[in-house]
Order: sequence, then structure tokens, then C-alpha cells
Amino acid sequence: MDYLKHFETLVNNQKARVAKMKEQGDFIDYKSLDKIIIGVVGGDGIGPAITAQSQRVLEFLLADEVKKGKVEFRVIEGLTIERRAEVNKAIPDEVLAELKKCHVILKGPTTTPREGDPWPNIESANVAMRKELDLFANVRPVKVPEEGIDWTFFRENTEGAYVLGSQGIHIDEDIAFDFKVITTQGAERIARAAFDFAKKNGKTRVTCVTKANVIKTSDGKFLNVCKEVAKDYPGIEMDDWYIDIMTAKLIDKNRRTQFQVMVLPNLYGDILTDEAAEFQGGVGTAGSANIGKRYAMFEAIHGSAPRMVDEGRDIYADPSSVVRGGAMLLSHIGYTKEADKLFKALEICGQTEKKLVMTGRDTGATNADFANYLMETIEKL
Ligand code: IPM
Ligand code: MG
Repeated sequence: MDYLKHFETLVNNQKARVAKMKEQGDFIDYKSLDKIIIGVVGGDGIGPAITAQSQRVLEFLLADEVKKGKVEFRVIEGLTIERRAEVNKAIPDEVLAELKKCHVILKGPTTTPREGDPWPNIESANVAMRKELDLFANVRPVKVPEEGIDWTFFRENTEGAYVLGSQGIHIDEDIAFDFKVITTQGAERIARAAFDFAKKNGKTRVTCVTKANVIKTSDGKFLNVCKEVAKDYPGIEMDDWYIDIMTAKLIDKNRRTQFQVMVLPNLYGDILTDEAAEFQGGVGTAGSANIGKRYAMFEAIHGSAPRMVDEGRDIYADPSSVVRGGAMLLSHIGYTKEADKLFKALEICGQTEKKLVMTGRDTGATNADFANYLMETIEKL
């Protein structure tokens, strides 16, 4: 492999991306659309089973809007590991074309192959979708009111250590190289998203998490850009932490309640949000919004759990995470009343009342039962 040529290509691609970001306009205004198209992608493993339940609940909440033609649900097939392996692509072309006709997407988990798997070692469909649709802000809230935890993570989603993760090279048999990239425009738009959120929601602090003391160039840029952006938000304090001590401080009961909004590069955001979700009951309970200016995608933060399917247990998989993703979707497109009802129902059904319990097997409820329980609860609100 001509590695200098390879590096040149990577650099040119990033330059092209920066040029595009410079031209980017504002966020789409859903109110200006005649019809909002919601794409539904089941994914792999337990994905289709749980995503279908989230879709049912959303269709229930938006029944009138669908009747009026203001909202359309569109199920998109083919984002399966079998099809992706067949065409050797992270997202098959026809699937990507369909996704691009939607405004927002509800997505189940997709299997991410790695070396040694029975699948070709293709790029993660998640990572590819975030890049292809330019979904730069991965917003992940974690709340545990009784512990005083109310965090919102703004994970950068289109650069960092992640996005070139399938484009590393073996220089020779001994040397493996990966690449990490941060751009001014990429850091700025995620920092602004975090500060705008803080401002809108009455938060007083944004915490920037990097490892800028060691990864000096790219993390250093991320931190500097955040500091610059902070100047435009008087009244909101910015503090800066390193990722290692941050993972420790999340388990420090006295310290952790002081964090409010976190902004961080891709890989650190990936790691810290799994840790954070654990306080709330695990990754199965968290939802994740991937927001760009033209598109937005909402998903579960857990994996596809193929073992559950092998053992015939997919109907018992907990749909809470992808339902929470659905509630975030509703809120994002302006149906805040409906979203609030769904958040409330999730709290009642999953935490306070718990009339049905999901155990992941036939000792507990099925995901269809749980969706019914959510809808009955909503009706009583
Ligand atoms: C997440 C997941 C994905 C990621 C995987 C499935 C590629 O862990 O959404 O956090 O690493 O971003
Ligand atoms: Mg993750």
C-alpha cells in the first residue's frame, strides 16, 4: 500500500468536508414542512422486534397527525448485516437513498462486525449513517433524580478517533496506524449545540472533556474551540476535565451532581455515556439522538443482542431504550406534548409503578405487552 497516497486521500476528504461545513446553513424547520417523514429501520438481532414496538407507540401518539397527512411512517428494509455483507457496504446504496428521503429516522441496533467475525469486517452502520447524514451531535441525557444526577452529553459524532476507524493502515507487518481528526468547524458546531442547549434549559455550566494534555493537537483544538465558543455565552461557565479523571468523578457522589452538560470528542463520548447510563439502570434504559442540520436519527444505545434471537428471546427484549429514542424524536420534531407523555409513561412503567417487569426471558413480559402497558398508561395521563 502506498501509505503516503492513502494519507493524502484522507486529508483531501477532510478538506472537502470542511468546505461543506463552511457552507452549511441552519437547522431544518419542521414546522415549515407539509409532511414529516419518519423512517423506521429495524436493524439486526433484537432490533426489528423492539423498534416495531417503539413505532407502535409513536403511531398511537401521532394517530391524528398521520390521518391528517402531516406525518408519515416509512419502514425501510435492508439495513441488515446479511445485506450489508452481501454488498460489502456499511449502508447499502438503496437503503441510503431511502434514508435520504426521510426527515427523521428511528433506528434499532445494528451489528458491528470486527475482525474474526463470520461477516466481512465492514464499517459500522451507525458510524456510516452519522457520517453520511452528517449527524454531528450525539445527544445523550442521563437522569437519576433521587441521586441528583441530571446530565446531558453532547458527543461529537462525525470526527475524532472514530470516523477514520475503518481507514487505518498496516504500514508493514509490524506497524499499524490509525488516524484521528478534529476540525475547527466540527468542534465549533458541537460546542455551540451544547451551549445553546445549556442556555435554553437554564443550565449554568458546560464541561469540556478531552485528553488535551497528551493528545495535544486534535484534542487541543477541540478544547480551544470550546473556550472560544464559551465567550459567546456569558452566564454559562465552562470547565475543562480530562477523560480519565472524568470517568472517576462520575462515581464520586459529591462531585458528580455538579456536572450538567458535557461536550466531548467522539470516542470519549462513546465511553463516558455508557458509564453514565449505568447509573440510570444500564444502556437498555438510555436513548440517543443523533442530530444534524438536515437529518436526525434516534436510536437505542445498546447493541443487537444476537444471542437473544438465537435463543428465541427477542420478543422479551426490553424496548425501553428505542422507545426513549422515539420520545426524543417526537420532542425534536416539535411534538413536545406527546413526547412528555411518553417520557412520563416510561418513568411510570419502568421505574415507579412497574406493573410489568421485563426480564429478557419468558419469566417476564414481552415487548408487545410492555408497549401496550405504555399506551394504557398514556391514556390515563
Ligand atoms: C454507540 C455504540 C456505537 C458507537 C457502535 C455500535 C458502533 O456503541 O452508539 O455508542 O460506538 O458509537
Ligand atoms: Mg457506545
